[in-house]
Amino acid sequence: MSESSATRTARPRRYLMCPPTHFAVDYAINPWMDPDAPVDRGRAVAQWGALKSAIEGLGHTVELIDPVPGLPDMVYAANGATVIDGRVLVASFRHPERSGESSAFEKWFRGRGYAAVLGADHVNEGEGDHLLAGRTVLAGNGFRTERAANAETARYFGRPVLGLSLVDPRFYHLDTALAVLDERTAMFWPGAFTTRGRRRVAELFPEVLAVEESDAEHFGLNAISDGRHVVLPAAAERTARLLTNHGFVPVPVETDELAKGGGGPKCCVLQLGDGTALPAAA
Ligand code: ARG
Repeated sequence: MSESSATRTARPRRYLMCPPTHFAVDYAINPWMDPDAPVDRGRAVAQWGALKSAIEGLGHTVELIDPVPGLPDMVYAANGATVIDGRVLVASFRHPERSGESSAFEKWFRGRGYAAVLGADHVNEGEGDHLLAGRTVLAGNGFRTERAANAETARYFGRPVLGLSLVDPRFYHLDTALAVLDERTAMFWPGAFTTRGRRRVAELFPEVLAVEESDAEHFGLNAISDGRHVVLPAAAERTARLLTNHGFVPVPVETDELAKGGGGPKCCVLQLGDGTALPAAA
């Protein structure tokens, strides 16, 4: 059943982003990356800038972390940490190509005056694999974030963690397979999950929208929702229509250059918290 857009309420958010100054596809750690295919860095920078403007245009705040030379994937800032209630769990990356990012993010959070900052012992790739569903942290396991990390995450945040096994290598991070639109609503591509995982998602969210596989392949699920507006790749046209039919306001952005690294809009933002509850900043 669809709801009217009047019932969808936007909440201001704060995000951390990293300019794709050093963006490249020099290695392949997911099926989308092809080091032999040309990458237009200028185009990536322009698309990233338009994404940032779109987010700010919705009234959200964007903070920036300096890009580090030699870390071409740092633009996918979602992977740098998980931030809940002002507490920061810094990511521990699966692949050595990205491991240098952890210290950059840790330094940023300490420099900004966050008091609770912990480097993870277990492999976890931050908000790429951690999505909040009310009090519960959904954790994507299988390709990047290891299942053993879930207990560490639960302990650190004092919240229940629900592990969801990811089964399709194209959707290797949870945020490529599922988007939380608000506390009651999620959209996902069922094929990225086990039967049990699909059931769990249905139990957790009263309203679950299933998108087409072809839109998932356009990173249509790699969407940023503030509860009303949903920033998503322009190519995911059917998903935009689905959102409209359910009372959300799609905000399409072009991210096809950034997709060459295996990500979309949501990969480029690390949510720092609701705009109303700011942790102390330096
Ligand atoms: N090339 C990056 C990787 O494979 C892309 C990360 C995409 N990030 C995300 N949150 N899904 O690690």
